[in-house]
Amino acid sequence: MARARRGMLKAIFGAAFAVTIAPFLSWGRFLYRQEAVKEQIRQKVANISELPPNTRINFPFPKTGDPKIDSDPFRQYMLIRTPAGEVRALSKVCVHLWCLWEYIPDLNECQCPCHGSVYNPDTGVAIRGPAYYQPYPTNALPMLKVEIDENGDIYVSQLDGKVGYGREWKRDLTRIQKIAESSPDTDAVAYVPLWNPVRASRAASILKKYNLKLVKAYGYLARGSAKEWLAVDTVEDAAKMDAVYALDVMAKPRDLLRLAEDKDVIMPLLRTPAGQR
Ligand code: FES
Repeated sequence: MARARRGMLKAIFGAAFAVTIAPFLSWGRFLYRQEAVKEQIRQKVANISELPPNTRINFPFPKTGDPKIDSDPFRQYMLIRTPAGEVRALSKVCVHLWCLWEYIPDLNECQCPCHGSVYNPDTGVAIRGPAYYQPYPTNALPMLKVEIDENGDIYVSQLDGKVGYGREWKRDLTRIQKIAESSPDTDAVAYVPLWNPVRASRAASILKKYNLKLVKAYGYLARGSAKEWLAVDTVEDAAKMDAVYALDVMAKPRDLLRLAEDKDVIMPLLRTPAGQR
């Protein structure tokens, strides 16, 4: 099973991996967006009468009233009423490479047009495509809390997760700690998502500081307002990227624990048990 999964990952990430996606803005705007989603706002979106089962409504969150700001991709959410009548509010930014997905009522699925990731609208968890092969919790769409008052008005608040990265960011290093105790000298492979994209030089310094061997670097080249998304497997190619947002690394478990304390790192997520590649 693990071997099959590694084979799939290799097929996905090892193939020519350069995709251009248009809807994203500059580096500075990206940082601005990350601040914006931290706001705790309770916002009315619709009335339940406007949302029959198996329908959806797109909306920006937090809404400012400024069309330019409200059209930012990182503010785009979808309110979905599932066929069972549950109401969900999911970030529209695919956690694979940030395209915007669409809800397909006939299939009761959220489908990303770029590389085929498919999400369960009830849970926001990827069920097929590249996002499905990303380790937990980078395989789930961030979700807003939904409340419906006595008048049927639907309110959203309290974003759970990080737009573009995933949901349920539990800082659980138990697995790595266990490996550090049982097999301290054996290398493990981990996926390392970063809180925000960093310059290639910063990515290189992280690799060096924590004795990490690069397996894959995920980032992009800026092409005006568009970006060319890349996954590369050498430090030299990583150095050519304008920004890096995640790494796959091989390292000793004690170094992964040190890495987990770095301010730019969300947490290392083991891809394989120690000793397996
Ligand atoms: S961006 Fe790649 S599947 Fe969505």
